[in-house]
Amino acid sequence: MSLVVINKIDEIREIIKEYKKQGKSIALVPTMGCLHEGHKSLMEKAHSIADITVISVFVNPIQFCPGEDYDRYPRTLEQDKIVAESAGVDIIFAPSVNEMYPNLQKFSDLTMVVPPYELTDIMCGKSRVGHFDGVETVVTKLFNIVQPDFACFGMKDIQQLFLIKKMVKDLNIPVEIIDCPLVREESGLALSSRNKYLSETEKTDALTISKSLFAIKESFKIGIKYTKKLFDVCLTNLSKNVELEYLEFVDADTFKHTDTINSKTICAIAARVGNVRLIDNIILEV
Ligand code: PAF
Repeated sequence: MSLVVINKIDEIREIIKEYKKQGKSIALVPTMGCLHEGHKSLMEKAHSIADITVISVFVNPIQFCPGEDYDRYPRTLEQDKIVAESAGVDIIFAPSVNEMYPNLQKFSDLTMVVPPYELTDIMCGKSRVGHFDGVETVVTKLFNIVQPDFACFGMKDIQQLFLIKKMVKDLNIPVEIIDCPLVREESGLALSSRNKYLSETEKTDALTISKSLFAIKESFKIGIKYTKKLFDVCLTNLSKNVELEYLEFVDADTFKHTDTINSKTICAIAARVGNVRLIDNIILEV
């Protein structure tokens, strides 16, 4: 089957209904486009587990905070089609903002899905207030529209993945969430659509983000378990041109801060290089 691009909710609903009638399983990969190898690995995973692979390409305005890069976020649908096709995607759902949020005057008019405060008052949720409300709301809408059996999310956005799994469980949404590993460049830099904004020098600085995470993991391996010490390891490795937003250690099962670092601890970082905000994380498993 060749790739089709659908912009309308009614239209994709009809197509999905037909596939469901035929007993076909559906996997969804929600994206904001500007697809890279990281997305490709999600799409390939989706393609390997379901009969029909759908991706959404939608730069979701309600998950951007004031002053963030909503307007300049790269929109590259033609290129995305090529990447999606090469990964075995059957349908790209690329709605307009008005299709997803008809006649929306202000975001506060919208019914929102809001994750628990204590799980968003840390890491990215702390600096991007309301971001995860926007993510959970759009993902719920996408689940309702596409009704997938599976949905694939990357472990780079580790807080997002945790919150979506919790939302699916709490709200009994009938979809299986598939965790997909974070993909790095050979240099170690975590793949991100925002890497496009980096100049060559900024990229060199950005590399010290993953370098500092790897150094933390190495230190943990040789027995350093105190977060204060591991924090210092991070600072030693981070370029002075990288502005640290947070370095946090949370338990992989609860997403709560942890004093005792163990092999299930997630070490997550957000930092700015120039005006580009990047995130990365590592699980300290040995
Ligand atoms: O991870 C992303 O790209 C977005 O947050 C998502 C899940 C597509 C929702 O807009």
